Amino acid sequence: MSAASPAVAAPTRYEAEAAPASCTGTIDSNHAGYSGTGFCNGTNAVGAAVRFTVTAATAGTATLGLRFANGTATVRPADVIVNGTRVGGTSFEGTGGWATWAVKALTVPVGAGGNTVAFSPTAADGLANIDALDVEVTGGGAGGNGSPTDANIVYHGRWDRSNASYFSMGWAGGYLDAQFTGASIGVRQRNAIDLYYSIDRGPLQWRRNVSGAVTLATGLSGGAHTVRIGYRERAGSYTGDPVFGGLILAAGGQTAPIARPQRVVEFIGDSITVGQPNADRPFTAYAWLTGEALGAGHTQVAQGDACLVSQDCYAMMDWFRRSSGYATTDDWNFATYQAAAVVINLGTNDVGHHVSTTRFQQNYVVMLQRVRQAYPNAHIFAMATFRGRYVTETRNAVSASGDSRVHFVDTTGWIGTADLVDSVHPNDAGHAKIAQRLAPVLAQHL
Ligand code: GCU
Ligand code: CA
Repeated sequence: MSAASPAVAAPTRYEAEAAPASCTGTIDSNHAGYSGTGFCNGTNAVGAAVRFTVTAATAGTATLGLRFANGTATVRPADVIVNGTRVGGTSFEGTGGWATWAVKALTVPVGAGGNTVAFSPTAADGLANIDALDVEVTGGGAGGNGSPTDANIVYHGRWDRSNASYFSMGWAGGYLDAQFTGASIGVRQRNAIDLYYSIDRGPLQWRRNVSGAVTLATGLSGGAHTVRIGYRERAGSYTGDPVFGGLILAAGGQTAPIARPQRVVEFIGDSITVGQPNADRPFTAYAWLTGEALGAGHTQVAQGDACLVSQDCYAMMDWFRRSSGYATTDDWNFATYQAAAVVINLGTNDVGHHVSTTRFQQNYVVMLQRVRQAYPNAHIFAMATFRGRYVTETRNAVSASGDSRVHFVDTTGWIGTADLVDSVHPNDAGHAKIAQRLAPVLAQHL
């Protein structure tokens, strides 16, 4: 424990008179100047402690401001005890009167969740009168600056990190999560892009065609907040710049560690898996919705017009090994993350490239082998295409793989013509229906 530097953002106030605080003594209000409805007048005795329950979003360091008054000329010493462990001592000197309040600044370690922070007097005079505790939790000594290389930022999907100033989103549906302190948050962009974001896990919202310093939120309350940011995929005539140039934090704000989901679900597919042509893709696409329903991280290694087989087509059996649809070699390092489940939805476009059923089936077997090689422990799901193309061959390939963790997913009847925007692509309602059917199938095996 050490003396604190000044708090940097509005802290959370815990009143001594309000549960879940406890006071070994009485809650009084006979000396003016307290906040809330009163203060703790501790019994004048060794061990007559005041206790607060402090919530921390993550383990880390809490900056404390303890508001007290001591109308005597005698210093009153106390132990500082966090979750039953003495982490240091403090003392309350005379403030000049019982109605004159002062703040004692301290820093203590806290764990994620609820923490008891107690002040226990070590002399017979007991504590000073205690009014309230202000708490600000920062990351575990590992407060970050929000730059792309900040270890507190959790990336999902395939990102090219070769330029430390701008990490570049490969494929579709890449996103990042971060926790931060401070009253505002923004993001640094390069060239124009449509980005979507949410604060504190609220609904995702768009900021279209933005560049440079983009403010996402201001006037946030004290304590920790979360932000998620993702980008529209580069495809066709849309040449936006889906790069992340770092968070713009408030003065004194920091990032803090955020929990990474235990599992990643990777979806490999074509425009249907991207969620094209719907305006709120990728986050209305079945892939995104299924991943969210499972509480998993998720990726959309998918591109419009993609096929399974290379016959004048983007062949995902080869290209899923790339960092993006623009990479020219099989450059992806599968050690970056390991998927717990891989969902393949391919074949819809192979018909237009006259891929024979024999060739499709043979290549699907190769695809399954390659996915297994990339993800040795994953469950692999081969979806029947919604248009019913190469379904028999997909099923046969699953059988032929001889791999007990490869599963055929029969999608018959999951969506109807009313769930399509054209003859091929599900609308938002169609995607939601697919996710509702697919998530339980995956959950059986995860
Ligand atoms: C006085 C004062 C109390 C205080 C007590 C003490 O009685 O009114 O508020 O707690 O002194 O010495 O602890
Ligand atoms: Ca007292």
